[in-house]
Amino acid sequence: MNRKGIILAGGAGTRLYPMTRAVSKQLLPVFDKPTVYYPLTTLMLSGVREILLISTPHDKAAFETLLGDGSQWGLEVRYAVQPEPGGLAQAFLIGREFIEGHPSALVLGDNLFHGDGLHGKLERVAARDDGATIFGYWVKDPSAYGVAVVDDEGRVTDLEEKPAHPRSHQAIPGLYFYDSSVVEKVERLEPSARGELEITDLNRLYLEDGRLRLEQLGRGVAWFDTGTPDLLLQAANYIQAVQSRHSLMVACPEEVAWRMGWIDDDELVALGRKLNGTSYGRYLRELVEDPLE
Ligand code: G1P
Repeated sequence: MNRKGIILAGGAGTRLYPMTRAVSKQLLPVFDKPTVYYPLTTLMLSGVREILLISTPHDKAAFETLLGDGSQWGLEVRYAVQPEPGGLAQAFLIGREFIEGHPSALVLGDNLFHGDGLHGKLERVAARDDGATIFGYWVKDPSAYGVAVVDDEGRVTDLEEKPAHPRSHQAIPGLYFYDSSVVEKVERLEPSARGELEITDLNRLYLEDGRLRLEQLGRGVAWFDTGTPDLLLQAANYIQAVQSRHSLMVACPEEVAWRMGWIDDDELVALGRKLNGTSYGRYLRELVEDPLE
């Protein structure tokens, strides 16, 4: 069954105040494109074409203007709102009818992934219909994140949300793959002390069932949660450096759609022409027209 994708772009983004007083953090730029393009293309590279974008009521119209119905990129994009920050796992209650018993993937709208081998790994993970897959990423101090405690064989033994004293260095990035039982599992969750349906509690239900896998993202992969000014700037500098060296873009939805075979050469060139006079538009046209490519 085809996998459905949810991008959660809710939340106040208070750590980025005052930038986020007027606009969601997922609409701020990471270098040359909106932050949400990065998680969007992560889902696309996983083969996901039906996507629900969940935002605050205030920002829904801006996301609709930016992404439209997705058909220009061979996608189907729909929209829903999360009126109050009710936790990441609430996305599955908001998206219950959209998911309709399919396997799904959730990506946080401010998480950026990039690196060699990532595309193949995402496709392999997305092909599993049973259980849940989360990722592990070694960071020196994971106390701002979900944390996985892992045994010698790489199996998860425990999960903790933002522990003051982490028992491992494995942060859990904001990208999660679930089987079709996810909605029923979220319905069983109780809100945490801060009144939210926690993604870590959802993952713990899979862990208790023996159906949680952790995929390691190695040191060749970059992961940024762009929710602080420092990380937003670091992510922008990283993207600028990688893109200028290769002259290839990271997280360009038009290019990903074309490479995935969801739009053809003519459609890509037409999208480039619509952005005439911009380097972004020229880039799209040259993907097709440059004989060396
Ligand atoms: C959320 C999750 C956390 C995860 C992080 C990834 O935290 O609760 O488990 O590690 O996203 O970005 P937040 O950044 O929303 O506080």
